[in-house]
Amino acid sequence: MEFPIKISSSLLSADFGNLTYEAMQAEKGGGCDIHLDIMDGHYCHNFSFGIDIIPALKKHIKIPLIAHLEIDNPDIFIDDFVLAGSDMIVVQEDTCPHLPITIATVKKRGIKAGIGINPDRGFEKLEANPEILEQIDLLIIMAVYPGFGGQPFSPVTIPKIEKACRMRKHRNVHFDIGVDGAVGPHTIPEIVKAGANYLIAGSSIFNDDNIIDNIKTLKDLVKKTLAETTVKNPRKDFV
Ligand code: DX5
Ligand code: ZN
Repeated sequence: MEFPIKISSSLLSADFGNLTYEAMQAEKGGGCDIHLDIMDGHYCHNFSFGIDIIPALKKHIKIPLIAHLEIDNPDIFIDDFVLAGSDMIVVQEDTCPHLPITIATVKKRGIKAGIGINPDRGFEKLEANPEILEQIDLLIIMAVYPGFGGQPFSPVTIPKIEKACRMRKHRNVHFDIGVDGAVGPHTIPEIVKAGANYLIAGSSIFNDDNIIDNIKTLKDLVKKTLAETTVKNPRKDFV
């Protein structure tokens, strides 16, 4: 099975005075979706967007809108984010006391579900509840702690990507393996070589006005890396 490479644009690093335009540029540049970090000031030390960002962007954007819930108690907000029009909800596994129920609830609502794992956390919840792997659409290895764009890349990310690939293969399931945090020109080669196919990039797309060019730069680097990489974890070019 091949997993097409996807570039997801994390709007946290965009110009907050110009969000719609910047999201539209990311769509035009070929980003697969818009990644929205929802923060509550508890789980991570920041605030970002609220639920209303989803319908507001939906009026202008056709690509999927992903709600990455970097909040405590995500279970109580799932229906709000579904009703708002999220195309996928990603929860942080350490915020869910009963992860299988959380994932089943999202899937029952008819949208995609993902799980994020922080740098200091392992795969124990997935190993204890392997049925989750059949339900999720995306597993995100967090290369930074939730809260801010522009943080340094955690080196634990690479062996975790490799482990996630082994898990996926062993169970013959098909979720995307993503990396969130510090995805950019300096890290993409090792991330792609390790086997991830879903790259969530904030600063490296939105830190200047050249959003379309920046996505192209990341895509060109992915293509170059894939061309040089042996077929350990086969992936196709972009969707
Ligand atoms: C961190 C967020 C990331 C963030 C990544 O809380 O989950 O999505 O936007 O930003 P960069 O790409 O700048 O590290
Ligand atoms: Zn995120």
